[in-house]
Amino acid sequence: MKIPQLLHDAPYSEAQRAWLSGFFTGIYTNSIQNAGVNSSTTVRTVHILYGSQTGTAESVAYDAAAMAKTQGLKAVVNSMDAIDSIAFTTMDTVLIVTSTYGEGEMPDNASVLWEAVNADTMPRLEKLQYSVLALGDTSYDLFCKAGIDWDNRLAELGATRIYERVDCDVAYEAPAENWMRSVIPQLSNSSAIDTDTPVTTPPQYSRKNPFPASLLVNRLLTAADSSKETRHYEISIAGSGLSYEAGDALCVLPTNCPELVSDIIQAIGCNGDELEPINGEVIRLQDALRTQFEIKTPSKELLQEIATRSGNQELNGLLSTGDKEQLANYLWGRDSLDLLRQNPVCEFTAAEFIALLKPLQHRAYSISSSGKMYPETVHLTVASVRYDGYEREHKGVCSTFLADLVDEKTEVRCFFTPNKVFRVPDDNSLPMIMVGPGTGIAPFRAFLQERQYRKATGKNWLFFGDRNEETDFIYRDELLSLQQDGVLTRLELAFSRDQVKKCYVQDRMREYGKELFEWLEQGGYFFVCGDAYRMAKDVDKALLEVIAEHGKLSEQQAIDYVNQLKKNKRYVRDVY
Ligand SMILES: Cc1cc2nc3c(=O)[nH]c(=O)nc-3n(C[C@H](O)[C@H](O)[C@H](O)COP(=O)(O)OP(=O)(O)OC[C@H]3O[C@@H](n4cnc5c(N)ncnc54)[C@H](O)[C@@H]3O)c2cc1C
Ligand SMILES: NC(=O)c1ccc[n+]([C@@H]2O[C@H](COP(=O)([O-])OP(=O)(O)OC[C@H]3O[C@@H](n4cnc5c(N)ncnc54)[C@H](OP(=O)(O)O)[C@@H]3O)[C@@H](O)[C@H]2O)c1
Ligand SMILES: Cc1cc2nc3c(=O)[nH]c(=O)nc-3n(C[C@H](O)[C@H](O)[C@H](O)COP(=O)(O)O)c2cc1C
Repeated sequence: MKIPQLLHDAPYSEAQRAWLSGFFTGIYTNSIQNAGVNSSTTVRTVHILYGSQTGTAESVAYDAAAMAKTQGLKAVVNSMDAIDSIAFTTMDTVLIVTSTYGEGEMPDNASVLWEAVNADTMPRLEKLQYSVLALGDTSYDLFCKAGIDWDNRLAELGATRIYERVDCDVAYEAPAENWMRSVIPQLSNSSAIDTDTPVTTPPQYSRKNPFPASLLVNRLLTAADSSKETRHYEISIAGSGLSYEAGDALCVLPTNCPELVSDIIQAIGCNGDELEPINGEVIRLQDALRTQFEIKTPSKELLQEIATRSGNQELNGLLSTGDKEQLANYLWGRDSLDLLRQNPVCEFTAAEFIALLKPLQHRAYSISSSGKMYPETVHLTVASVRYDGYEREHKGVCSTFLADLVDEKTEVRCFFTPNKVFRVPDDNSLPMIMVGPGTGIAPFRAFLQERQYRKATGKNWLFFGDRNEETDFIYRDELLSLQQDGVLTRLELAFSRDQVKKCYVQDRMREYGKELFEWLEQGGYFFVCGDAYRMAKDVDKALLEVIAEHGKLSEQQAIDYVNQLKKNKRYVRDVY
């Protein structure tokens, strides 16, 4: 069945057209589905809108739609940037599934709709029924802030909350599924959903069931005398049946460093052989701390307990004033072991200590190879986290698990997370601009391989930088050879510490702003990867300035231009 011609003729914006297209497709699907039953039944359309940076909220949104379908509902899933505020006002049932990014901010694909809905000009939404599922991580200060903001704003606009918001920590699967199982029956007028049947077929390998891969290559990319340590890894996925796309991430489940485990056991006054029941199994304390719990970064509960037991005035003061910045400064570089050693009255039984820990989490890494060029291996580009402080060497859990602990016999337990928006454009003739200093280069190595594999004719421009050219120009030979082969059309470099004044990728963007704007005007895609807190913000600012200056646009017009790029998925980021 064709979508009505009026959609193509009427003067709708791209977002309105996308939404209406979903709406009409929904109606027609319903009429087909119901044809043999009762053609006059009106099936309720549930709009599931997701705000997602790396695909988790997106996949939950699709799971919710699958469940809604089993309840006879018509569910239309949309990325928030496919909807504008006018389309939003016409919806009467909306489920919001959103993660939080940056420091309590919306994910990129949610920011434009959020700004419109949050504006004073937004009309009341008295007839809207909604519920929010917020994804986040309690280790961030502003836990689930984006979902909380949506929930509060919709209530403020007069919409009816049909089910209380659920805020999910990193182990989101169970609470997300409970939310779906609670909210969807409220929409379908049917009885509660059978809780035994899984919502969707789970992927073969996931966080709960990771693939036991093997590490084939562990190569130092930075020079031995560099101030940094960045490594190239090749991980075999042969025989797994798994595949990936350039732009996806690989999540690795590490184990903790054995020395850190034994130092912590000593600091809490245990011996490590204590037996503890964990997830239905009885396990020795030392094994539990090695494989099951986050022991480097202190949980809020552990921090509070150390403060209470020790009576440490400084720490208690920081915790009670709620000054998050001061607390973050105090904690910077101090891990659980430092805190235990600096507060030596803190002795715990094994059970008490374990009760204060969070589960050990996977770490995500942007894949630095193309799955087409390397179907049996996944390449990663990882900065090893190592720093000295409080008279000992500190090591990042996962980056040094890969660097130091894994040998050919060790399993690298991993699973993929697709990033459906961070992709090489389908149209091989369109230009790509890639900004990726430091490990931010990872997905762009994959993108360039992908363009090479596809024999794409589109131009490619990479902005790369790091501390010193001599020691930190990672993948130098590969990049120069891609340049010679004509795959990499332009390479702009910014080595920050080779001169007195810092020089960053955004300085190069400004320097070549005229050409950068021309590439955008030719339909170019703008990708950013790497540090979220400083680099990505400054690059965003520079992009706005370049567009305003070379497009001769006002500040507001430049913002609109950037928003349009975001809506069209031509400005996408993979930042961490
Ligand atoms: C989507 C995504 C993609 C990513 N891609 C990549 C990638 O391609 N390459 C890559 O290297 N990383 C990438 N990361 C980051 C990666 O997931 C991990 O966060 C990183 O490897 C650190 O993990 P870790 O377990 O080694 O360190 P952790 O054990 O998590 O320790 C990190 C903590 O150590 C502390 N710390 C770090 N440095 C210092 C210092 N100098 N002084 C004091 N304290 C310090 C900080 O508290 C920091 O939070 C990505 C993250 C995401 C979300
Ligand atoms: N969670 C973790 O522990 C962890 C581990 C690995 C990576 N990361 C994150 O990932 C980021 C990338 O790490 P990385 O090793 O790939 O790179 P990085 O060391 O942070 O930096 C790469 C380059 O970016 C420069 N830079 C610093 N501030 C910038 C800014 N505001 N704008 C543009 N460039 C800037 C750096 O310069 P200068 O340093 O000379 O200023 C350096 O030349 C880190 O910053 C960190 O946030 C985190
Ligand atoms: C750079 C970065 C910043 C984040 N900031 C927050 C935050 O401020 N608050 C929060 O609750 N979660 C935060 N998170 C956690 C994400 O919201 C969480 O991992 C979520 O499941 C990701 O979902 P997505 O894949 O759909 O984007 C952050 C994650 C990253 C990588």
